[in-house]
Amino acid sequence: MTIAVSSQSTVADRLGRPLRDLRISVTDRCNWRCPYCMPAEVFGERYEFLPRPEILTFEETERLARIFAGLGVRKLRITGGEPLVRTQLPRLIELLARIPAIEDVALTTNGYLLGGMANSLKGAGLNRVTVHLDSLEEETFKKMSGRPYGPQKTLEGIEAAARAGLTPVKVNCVVQRGMNDGQLVDMARRFKGTGHVLRFIEFMDVGTRNAWNMKQVVPAKEIFEKINAEFPIEPADREYRGEVAERYRYKDGSGEIGIIASVSNPFCGDCTRARLTTDGRLVTCLFAAGGKDLKTPLRAGATDGDLSDMITGVWSKRSDRYSEQRAANTGADGSVKLPRRKLEMYQLGG
Ligand code: GTP
Ligand code: 5AD
Ligand code: SF4
Ligand code: SF4
Repeated sequence: MTIAVSSQSTVADRLGRPLRDLRISVTDRCNWRCPYCMPAEVFGERYEFLPRPEILTFEETERLARIFAGLGVRKLRITGGEPLVRTQLPRLIELLARIPAIEDVALTTNGYLLGGMANSLKGAGLNRVTVHLDSLEEETFKKMSGRPYGPQKTLEGIEAAARAGLTPVKVNCVVQRGMNDGQLVDMARRFKGTGHVLRFIEFMDVGTRNAWNMKQVVPAKEIFEKINAEFPIEPADREYRGEVAERYRYKDGSGEIGIIASVSNPFCGDCTRARLTTDGRLVTCLFAAGGKDLKTPLRAGATDGDLSDMITGVWSKRSDRYSEQRAANTGADGSVKLPRRKLEMYQLGG
């Protein structure tokens, strides 16, 4: 089924922000157990993930993405959990890449399965990948991924993605004080000159399970200074409005890095991102407590127009700006006074 896509159709929220990007979580499962996302003690063998019937089919996902495109979305990002554990994922990419208004289809992965899939993902129409890698050091990697192996397979995945043309490959490093903050220069050295773009991410209070405290956050300024002291860098312009990373280029011309400062320098003012959960809920902020169920009406026979109206209704009422509110509600002891229910990272994919 198709709907007319007009370049004129846009919807703005209460703060005047248009709807431009859709992050689609295709599974709530993951093959890693990063303690800040899916701690192994909670997500053990017997943990019950979403049952199959609750998960949107590829056809349902494509239909919703097409409707979002009709409302102004131009960029899709596939997330999870870990998206590469979803069976036959390239088939979904193929459907999404064919939507006429979509200009960019990207995917965020931990890279463990990427080596074997990079070519088929590219063939299906994926434009680029972002790979989550917190450390190159064996023991730190094990602690931060919750798995008993080192970074080798993820590094191979990054190279396979680059060979397949899923470029530029971005590498996401979540910086946690006392964990990997002493290794940032090593990370920079490893990716400098490779064409891959390393991005350091301030550790965020996503979800309810990571016992987050401001003291674990290494602010962007400190990250900048550590890298700049070893490899001089200078600011570069943002690539597009609403880009979450601040970009810096190496003064010697050997590439660039990014710093994502959602804690010390929130970017809610430019936030154009909606999220679709694995079970078909529309979520308008990474820190939301819930979302609007689109799957039930979709399965009950709603037309494209009905669904489009529902999405418009949600987006036009949106006033989310959690990261800015967090900044204003952080006490001297580093704790945040915003008691509220939140969805989990593995349900939203970042
Ligand atoms: P590109 O700019 O398209 O390459 O992707 P991206 O940086 O938007 O996506 P990615 O999945 O790599 O996310 C990078 C980091 O930014 C992750 O830690 C995300 O959780 C975080 N992030 C992405 N979007 C938002 C957002 O809207 N709000 C906040 N607070 N964090 C976000
Ligand atoms: N803070 C910041 N980034 C996080 N990610 C996962 N949990 C957090 C957190 N608490 C990152 C992962 C992944 C991206 C989607 O979000 O590294 O690359
Ligand atoms: Fe998996 Fe990513 Fe969560 Fe780590 S952060 S457990 S790799 S979904
Ligand atoms: Fe957007 Fe919410 Fe992130 Fe702010 S905290 S940038 S509103 S998703």
